[in-house]
Amino acid sequence: MRRLRIIYDYNIGKYFTFQPSKKKPVYNWFYYKEAFSPEVVDYCLNLSGGVESIYDPFMGIGTTLLRAKELGIYSIGRDVNPVAFLASYVKTRNYFDDEIEEVKSFLNSLRTEEPSIKWRFEFFPPERAFPPRNFKEILSIREQIEYLKNEKIKNFLLLALLSVLPMSSYVVKDGGVLKINKRKRTAKAVDVFKRKVKRMIRESSLIRGKEPDIYLESSINKAEKADVVITSPPYLNNVSYANVYGLELSLLFLDESITKKVRGMELNSFIKKKTTPQLPDSFTHLPIVSNYFSDMRNVLENIKASRAAFFVVGNAIINNEHILVDEILSEIAEDMGFEATIIVGLVRKTRINGFLHKVRESLVYLKK
Ligand SMILES: C[S@@+](CC[C@H](N)C(=O)[O-])C[C@H]1O[C@@H](n2cnc3c(N)ncnc32)[C@H](O)[C@@H]1O
Repeated sequence: MRRLRIIYDYNIGKYFTFQPSKKKPVYNWFYYKEAFSPEVVDYCLNLSGGVESIYDPFMGIGTTLLRAKELGIYSIGRDVNPVAFLASYVKTRNYFDDEIEEVKSFLNSLRTEEPSIKWRFEFFPPERAFPPRNFKEILSIREQIEYLKNEKIKNFLLLALLSVLPMSSYVVKDGGVLKINKRKRTAKAVDVFKRKVKRMIRESSLIRGKEPDIYLESSINKAEKADVVITSPPYLNNVSYANVYGLELSLLFLDESITKKVRGMELNSFIKKKTTPQLPDSFTHLPIVSNYFSDMRNVLENIKASRAAFFVVGNAIINNEHILVDEILSEIAEDMGFEATIIVGLVRKTRINGFLHKVRESLVYLKK
């Protein structure tokens, strides 16, 4: 195995999560546990010098793009999940006075009436996940949003509505699955929705600048030219974003099958039995994770015109085997002509089957 450059910087690791963004205006319009914080973007930009354009092939809720907009840098993003796409879109638009007036008049005319639309979800009936009054209020708001003609306003309000599901429901996101806990405290849906929209209105003019170009599609087979890439792909942890944000997805589309459709387009972050021949020779003994790395290889192929790329990744323990995602990704990238440096940001201790493992999360820095 070749020697890779590995350095440690625990200052950056605390920004690999959404936690520091929870109080940041606009960044926090939608809670996405898997997002990183804008400090990661700043860190990458410091390493790359002057940057003309940025691409995020797994943009999530648009942290990279929003920070780029704040800094006056043009950016492009992709994601397959419509909830993530909606959050990125709404957070990165510029809003004009007449649009904000329209949002206000929607709030003023909001009523709670018997909804006529139906909401179905793949994993459980949504009505089980809410106190009855909240369920009715949420569907009623959803229905009233549906009648709006202006798509931009509609999306603004839809994001506000989706963002209040966690606090108005009994649902607990536990790892990759949704659980219903009827003892969980819930807030009155209409109240939290109104509060949320008012806060979004207040913050809607804070970040102005060139709007990024964003696409609701998979990045696995799309080549993109940008100066620098800053991203965090799904971790190798068997978790589907379509499932974790499934309740939000099904309310957005009012279509039970949407979760399955989105799941089918996600990067293979699942372990598999089948082997594929696309790994470097030293890693073909890891067939169970080969799909993940063959998808990642495609992603790297698609961005090879960029002069630098940054990937926040997490290593994994699978069947008692330590999968060094940061090293495998670096090797694949080096085979394509990048020079890789692994910047270890944090090390988590996890106990699996009685064994204590130290598993790191790193920023893989690739440059030409
Ligand atoms: C770790 S999150 C990215 C979070 C992002 N850095 C942020 O701050 O919001 C990974 C994202 O990859 C998306 N994703 C999964 N498969 C994808 C694919 N094939 N193409 C594009 N995006 C995909 C998921 O929907 C998820 O939003």
